[in-house]
Amino acid sequence: MDSFELNKIMGAVLGTLLFILSLSIVSGGIFASHPPKKAGYEIAVKDDKAGPAQGPAEPQVPLANLLNEANAEKGASVARQCVACHEFAKGGANKVGPGLYGVVNNDAGTHGGFNYSNAMKNKKGKWTFEALDKFLENPSKTVPGTSMTFLGIRRAADRAAVIVYLNKQSDSPAPLPPPVAAAPDQKKDGEKKDAPAKQ
Ligand code: HEC
Repeated sequence: MDSFELNKIMGAVLGTLLFILSLSIVSGGIFASHPPKKAGYEIAVKDDKAGPAQGPAEPQVPLANLLNEANAEKGASVARQCVACHEFAKGGANKVGPGLYGVVNNDAGTHGGFNYSNAMKNKKGKWTFEALDKFLENPSKTVPGTSMTFLGIRRAADRAAVIVYLNKQSDSPAPLPPPVAAAPDQKKDGEKKDAPAKQ
């Protein structure tokens, strides 16, 4: 092999290397990879206010007041979370959960033809507004062992709206409790009558 031939081979090798190098530069420009700002998939979740009871505590508004402020139409839209398992209409079938027509002030665990969990059968007592509010906030905490696998409705106002809606699904809706006046310590200073007199 003379040196001329060697030069040709070396040239070919160098040329190939140069070609590969330029290819990777060009492709790098075309297929620039942008690393995601956050690792993993981003899943868009509708920020449904109804969820498990967690997060910052809300200011305590008495249930009676929330019920009076609540709107049954809003309640119907919150109740869309229930329809996979419940029917609300009169004579509605039992699905995963019992039919809920007339549930307000009905005895818990007594809807005809539904196979309740022992926990619900043993709950006893009526579904008063308060009982429903507690149950719907966190079903499995309020009735441990219930077969209602529903996380609960976090916002008290949303629960009140659903309860007002449930109350309308009845032959004789129960009267709402009268709203409660603000507690004395929420009144303005000037209104404090029972402040200790200065001596
Ligand atoms: C995943 C299905 C499911 C969802 C969603 C669901 N429930 Fe239930 N619910 C059940 C089951 C099952 C029971 C029976 C529980 C038991 O026997 O322990 C039940 C029981 C109840 C009861 C007691 C009924 C009775 O006759 O004592 C009420 C009230 C109730 N659900 C209201 C609601 C409301 C209101 C919603 C929507 C905000 C809702 N549920 C969402 C499955 C569900």
